[in-house]
Amino acid sequence: MKILVTGGTGYIGSHTCVQLIEQGWQPVILDSLVNSKASVLGRIEQITKHRPPFIVGDVRDASLIEKILAEHKIEAVIHFAGLKAVGESVAQPLRYYDNNVHGSVVLMQGMQKCGVKTLVFSSSATVYGNSSAPPWNEQVPTSPANPYGRSKLMVDQIMADLTLADPTCSMTSLRYFNPVGAHPSGQMGEDPQGIPNNLMPFLSQVAVGRRESLHIYGNDYDTPDGTGVRDYIHVSDLANGHIAALAYAHGCAGHHVFNLGSGHGHSVLDMLNAFGKACGRQLPHTLAPRRPGDLAAYWADPSHALSTLGWHAEKTIDDMCQDTWRWQSQNPNGYP
Ligand code: NAD
Ligand code: WQD
Repeated sequence: MKILVTGGTGYIGSHTCVQLIEQGWQPVILDSLVNSKASVLGRIEQITKHRPPFIVGDVRDASLIEKILAEHKIEAVIHFAGLKAVGESVAQPLRYYDNNVHGSVVLMQGMQKCGVKTLVFSSSATVYGNSSAPPWNEQVPTSPANPYGRSKLMVDQIMADLTLADPTCSMTSLRYFNPVGAHPSGQMGEDPQGIPNNLMPFLSQVAVGRRESLHIYGNDYDTPDGTGVRDYIHVSDLANGHIAALAYAHGCAGHHVFNLGSGHGHSVLDMLNAFGKACGRQLPHTLAPRRPGDLAAYWADPSHALSTLGWHAEKTIDDMCQDTWRWQSQNPNGYP
């Protein structure tokens, strides 16, 4: 079955393409390369011995979308393409709404025109508000705190509206918690441009000597060790979550929402220690003020994905850190 994977050369998209190929699906990748490199294709090929068709282009290009859907006889779409930097979304909201919301609308219009009914969308735990104690299930009230999170929720809502208007559609939102880790081969991983915003890529750049020291954003939270607690999920588990969702949703009309997380919370210090163990030395770190907008602690209730999709996350934070370190140490400057 042929699947259009938008954003397929990005971090999560590339890992999902590898697992799609390994499990017998046929991904066709569309990516504008705004935040990824074409050399990712060579890595997918090295791992799977298959080079998926790749089109450089933008999801907002309606005629391109229709052409790809028709020419490749696409049966379902996994939609990763989007911008994801929270701070940037505050500074450039129109760019985020245009890329993430308008881009998704153009994609869904193309699907409707070409009769493609199944969509799996990259949503985020960032759509939830902070009014509920963790773990968070899919019924936690939504209330995103920034334009990035709002762009994700808007697309969720548009997908729900579309399934009301056309009950034959199958629209699935996957709400990821904190995706980290890398392919166990060390051939693929996260390759952020510039200074990483997120904990794991920053830590791994400290480990490889590209950054001096990790800044721990606050140690006075109401958590067991005072540092922020999150639900880290290995990107390979996440990739498998997409395939489980696709297998379930294709042919199962309606609007489906699943949390994809491990169900466990880990602190910044837990991650720092696990990474130190993986790379064989204690990593330099300094205490810094809290980062504005950060919550103390949240993690997923992933039981809906387990009971409906039969999916659960299997990898530990040690696996996440070992695989990230293998990727970072073999590719200190990321992809060529
Ligand atoms: P990424 O930036 O590595 O991948 C996104 C890909 O989409 C990139 O390759 C980029 O070039 C491409 N892209 C962006 N806009 C495009 C457009 N208009 N047309 C075509 N291609 C475009 O990010 P990622 O971490 O792999 O995230 C994938 C998706 O998952 C994103 O939608 C992101 O918002 C969502 N998500 C990510 C996280 C996370 O922490 N990484 C968490 C929750 C949700
Ligand atoms: C994790 C913990 C920080 C960096 C973000 C987005 C969210 C989602 C996932 C897309 C927190 C602490 C971090 C550092 C630190 N993305 N930290 N020093 O903020 O939970 O979620 O990525 O949908 O929308 O907001 O992830 O990795 O930035 O932070 O101490 O240099 O690490 O305070 O407690 P976050 P993160």
